[in-house]
Amino acid sequence: EDGALWGGRFASGPAPELLKLSKSTQFDWVLAQYDILGSKAHASALAAAGYLTADELADMRAALDELAARVADGRFVAAESDEDVHSALERGLIEITGVQLGGKLRAGRSRNDQIATLVRMYLLDHAALIGGMLVDLLEALHAQAVANEGAILPGRTHLQHAQPVLLAHHLGAHAWPIVRDLERLRDWKRRASASPYGGGALAGSSLGLDPKLVAAELGLGEPLENSIDGTAARDVVAEFAFITAQIGIDLSRLSEEIILWNTKEFGFVRLHDGYSTGSSIMPQKKNPDIAELARGKSGRLIGNLTGLLATLKAMPLAYNRDLQEDKEPVFDSVNQLEVLLPAFTGMVATMRFDTERMVELAPQGFSLATDVAEWLVKQGVIFRDAHEISGELVRYCEERGLELHEPSNEQLASVSEHLTPAVRDVLTVEGSVNSRVGAGGTASVRVAEQLEKLAGKIAEF
Ligand code: ARG
Repeated sequence: EDGALWGGRFASGPAPELLKLSKSTQFDWVLAQYDILGSKAHASALAAAGYLTADELADMRAALDELAARVADGRFVAAESDEDVHSALERGLIEITGVQLGGKLRAGRSRNDQIATLVRMYLLDHAALIGGMLVDLLEALHAQAVANEGAILPGRTHLQHAQPVLLAHHLGAHAWPIVRDLERLRDWKRRASASPYGGGALAGSSLGLDPKLVAAELGLGEPLENSIDGTAARDVVAEFAFITAQIGIDLSRLSEEIILWNTKEFGFVRLHDGYSTGSSIMPQKKNPDIAELARGKSGRLIGNLTGLLATLKAMPLAYNRDLQEDKEPVFDSVNQLEVLLPAFTGMVATMRFDTERMVELAPQGFSLATDVAEWLVKQGVIFRDAHEISGELVRYCEERGLELHEPSNEQLASVSEHLTPAVRDVLTVEGSVNSRVGAGGTASVRVAEQLEKLAGKIAEF
């Protein structure tokens, strides 16, 4: 008994080169416990339809439990001759039950509906794990925002000083995309929970097996409406790969800023020793490797998504062996995120901001010019003129090496009669920040509300 699931119509066994190519146990073994759960549920469906007696069902389920235990502690492993996890586990079952009982289990199912179901089960479990890790990250971002309440950061567009903002507002801007990633996972879960089991190879089953019974036992939702769709579609896998890629991108954008903030030139943030690395030659170095790995791995996650999409493109219905290529990319995305996220969160939770340096730099680069223009509008100047006057003030200051708040009253008046000394009220970073009270703005009151909403969102997941 070599464990092959097919062979009856073949005069010879598979060529060794084919076996080597076709084999997937080296990566699909992570599905073994899901496969066994599927088999237990399938056995129940077979019994309900009269293909197993009550005793046979009890023996079969006990044997599958035994097999699960052997897989868990390594007493049962894939053999060189096993094509995939499904064939290996049938071999393992028959080792326990003998062929008379174990040989009945495959009736009414195919590896095609099995694998489509098992991938969903695996992804659902790991989505929950990754979701929990994202919640931890959100808590770390929220805690940093609260701990640095009132701290001011030079807000940037085009990487140039733009307008001062609260650090908490900026950290919030990194948190909300993560909230949406969690929402994406939640939304994806509704589609991922549908069950392909019972679809057979592609056309459905003639044995009167109840797919709802299987789905319910597996903790899945409704069986899919179409057996061809159930066995051939992988959009749910691709969507998961997208969500992980998007998570990678969201982490990489924060990473890039942490890397910049951690430079001598910026000096905004110091990373905890436990979450930084040294250099083998330069004794002084303390490097932001976690952020760099996050940035690097985001490329890898994007690659996994695009590779999978390329595999799926133009593939005819129904199952084709190409579909075996769906697993390694998403398994890799899962593995990468599951090692990355805890380290990333540790880095975020322990980094320290130099708030004095940030607030000192915040008004530089004429970042209050918009405040001057908007102040002029409040004095009744039309915006086009206000923009012009504020721009002239910037040029005036730049030519003289002054910052915007530094010209005397006379100098201000020489730029424009509208620039009365009262303009000084808005020429402080605190004044600027706290004037932005519009919805979603950076004023302290708005940011405090925002952080409360964020806490509420975090509690949802
Ligand atoms: N190992 C395959 C996969 O991962 C499932 C086996 C289906 N094989 C087949 N010849 N129909 O997709």
